[in-house]
Amino acid sequence: RKRNLILAFESSCDETSVAVIEDGHKILSNIVATQIKSHERFGGVVPEVASRHHIEQITFCIKDALKEAGVTYADLTAVAVTYGPGLVGSLLVGVTAAKMVAFAHGLPLIPVNHMAGHIYAARFAGELRFPALALLVSGGHTELVYLAGPNDFAIIGETRDDAAGEAYDKVGRILGLTYPAGKEIDALAHEGQDTFGFPRAMENDDNYDFSFSGLKSAFINTVHHADQVGEVLDKKDLAASFQQSVVDVLAEKTVKALKNYPVKQLILAGGVAANQGLRARLDQELKSFAEVELLKAPLKYCGDNAAMIGAAGYAAYQAGVVADLALNADPSLEF
Ligand code: KG4
Ligand code: ZN
Repeated sequence: RKRNLILAFESSCDETSVAVIEDGHKILSNIVATQIKSHERFGGVVPEVASRHHIEQITFCIKDALKEAGVTYADLTAVAVTYGPGLVGSLLVGVTAAKMVAFAHGLPLIPVNHMAGHIYAARFAGELRFPALALLVSGGHTELVYLAGPNDFAIIGETRDDAAGEAYDKVGRILGLTYPAGKEIDALAHEGQDTFGFPRAMENDDNYDFSFSGLKSAFINTVHHADQVGEVLDKKDLAASFQQSVVDVLAEKTVKALKNYPVKQLILAGGVAANQGLRARLDQELKSFAEVELLKAPLKYCGDNAAMIGAAGYAAYQAGVVADLALNADPSLEF
C-alpha cells in the first residue's frame, strides 16, 4: 500500500510552518519558524514584517520538513495549506508555496481553514468522534463550533468584540508584559486570587456568544485609577481576577451548549486552549457530562503550526475537498 503523506503549510500570522503528516495523525515532522522576537517590540504582529519573514523562511521550512520526515516530493500524496482567515500578505506566502509544490509535482491541493486546523490539533490527543462541539479560543477568534461530521463545521456562538487571546494580550500590555502575554498572565494568575471581581459579560444571556471588551475596559480603568491615586495593585491578583472572569464565561457558555447539543466529544483548541486555568476548569465541568469525552489539543499544538493543518487537510481530502491552482488567500474566511 502506498503511504498517505500530506505536506502541510501554515503561514496565516507570525509562524512559518511546514509539516509532513502520515494517515492524518502521525506527525513525521513539524517545523515552526517563529517571528515573535521581531514583533515583540511593537506589542503585536506587524503585517508587512510578517510577510517578509515568511518569504525568507518558507523554503527552508519545506526542506527541513521533508528531511526530518525522511521523505521526498515523490513520496507525497497531497499538499494542504491554510488559505484563511489571517493576514493576507502572510497567507499568500504559504498559498503560493503550496501551489507551486502541487503544480511542480502533480499533487492534489487541499485548501484548509485555519480554524478547522486548530480544531484538528486535538487529533493528536485522540480520535475525533461526532457529533462534537469545539470551544475554539485563539488570538483572533473565540467561538463554539458544532461538528456534525469530520468536515462539517457550524458556528453556534462567537465573540461580539475581542477574542479571548486578544484580551489577554491587551491586558498584558497594561501590565507591562511582553507580547503575546497569555502564557505569562496564566502563570501569574496561579499565584494570585480573584480579589477584583471583574464583570462576566453576557453570562446569563440566552445564547452562546461572548464579549471581552467590557472586561478589558474594567481592567484598564482599575489600573488607571490606582495609578492616579498612587496605589500599587498586586499583579498576581489582577491576573487571577482577569483570568477567572475569562474562564468563567468560557466554561459557562460551553456548559450551556453541551446541555442543548448532545455530543460525543468536547474539543478544546486554539492558542488560548493552552491556558491551565481553562483546561482544569473544563476537566471539572465535564464530570457532570459522563457521556461526553473532553479532547484537549496537546499543549504543544495549541499555537499555530502546520501539523494541525495536515490533520484537518486529511479530513477535508477524505470528504473530497480539493482546490485548483486558482486558489487565493481569503483573509476573512469563515466556516
Ligand atoms: O491560535 P494562536 O496561536 O494564534 C491565532 O490564530 O490567533 O493564539 C495565540 C493567542 C495569543 O493571544 C496568546 O496570548 C494566547 O493565544 N495564549 C494564551 C496562552 N498561551 C497562548 N492565552 C491564555 N493562556 C495561555 N496559557
Ligand atoms: Zn491560530
